[in-house]
Amino acid sequence: MMHILAISNRKGGTGKTTVSVNLAAALAQQGLRVLLIDMDSQGHCAVGLGLTPTQGMPTVHDLFTNADVQLGTAIVPTALPTLWLAPSDPRFDHGSGVRDDTKLRRAIADEALENRFDLIVIDTPPSMDALLMNALLAATRVLVPYVPHPLSFDGLRQLVRALFPIMTKQNRTLKLLGFLPTMLAEHIRQHRDTSGKVVNEFGAERGLPGIRNDIKLAEAFGVGQPICLYAPHCRGAEDFEALAQKVRALLGGG
Ligand SMILES: Nc1ncnc2c1ncn2[C@@H]1O[C@H](COP(=O)(O)OP(=O)(O)OP(=O)(O)O)[C@@H](O)[C@H]1O
Ligand SMILES: [Mg+2]
Repeated sequence: MMHILAISNRKGGTGKTTVSVNLAAALAQQGLRVLLIDMDSQGHCAVGLGLTPTQGMPTVHDLFTNADVQLGTAIVPTALPTLWLAPSDPRFDHGSGVRDDTKLRRAIADEALENRFDLIVIDTPPSMDALLMNALLAATRVLVPYVPHPLSFDGLRQLVRALFPIMTKQNRTLKLLGFLPTMLAEHIRQHRDTSGKVVNEFGAERGLPGIRNDIKLAEAFGVGQPICLYAPHCRGAEDFEALAQKVRALLGGG
C-alpha cells in the first residue's frame, strides 16, 4: 500500500517545509520513488529544491480553481532521479475556491498515483484551512514537527484534539506517525524536558529521532538543494538519513 504522509503543525515555523523537503529527499536517496506535494501557497518546497515555477505552469492548487485539471500535469522532476514535486501556486488565495475537503484524496486515487510512487509526502500550511483538511483527508499518516520549548507542548495537545475527530470519523485510515522535535539543541535543558514530556504524554513509540539545529539546513534551502546534496556529511544530513530509515520502518518499508 502506498502511504501518504502529511507533515503538519498548525503553528508556524516549526520546520514543516524543511522536514518535507529533506525527508522526501532522504527517502528518495534510499531508493523510494517519492512525490512531494506542496499544499502551502508560500511555495517554499520549490525554493528548497531549486525549482522556479514559471507563469502558467500547472500547480497542485489548480485542483481547487479549475475542475478539469489533473494532478499529474503538475508533477515535475527534481535534481534527484526518484523525487518529484507537485508545486504550489504562490498566487493562490487560501480562502478562495470551492470548499471541497476530499478533492486531493480523489485526485490521487483517480490518477492511480500508487502505480507511479512508493510514497507521497505533503507539506501543509500553518493554518487549519481547507488546504490542510485536504491534506489530512488524503493522508494515511501524519508527522508533526515541533520546536521543543514549553509553550509548544500545549499546542501539541490542541493539535491532537483537533486530529481526533478526523482520525475517528472523516478519515479512519489516518494515523499519527509521530512527533518530531526540530531545531533541537541537546544541551538546552528545556529542549530535553519538552521532548521527554511529549514521550510521557503521547507514548515512546510516538517520539521520533529529532533533527538538530544546523545552520547548513537553512543554507541548503537558500541555494535550492536538499541537505543530502548540499552537505551530505553534516549533522542535519545525518539526522534526516536516520529519520528516513525510521519512517521506512514505521511505514513497513523495511
Ligand atoms: N533543524 C534546523 N536547524 C536550523 N534551522 C532550521 C532547522 N529547521 C528549520 N530551520 C529554519 O527555520 C525556519 C523555519 O523553518 P520552515 O520554513 O521549515 O518551517 P515551517 O514550519 O515550514 O514554516 P511555515 O509555518 O511558515 O510554513 C527556516 O528559516 C529554516 O531554514
Ligand atoms: Mg512551511
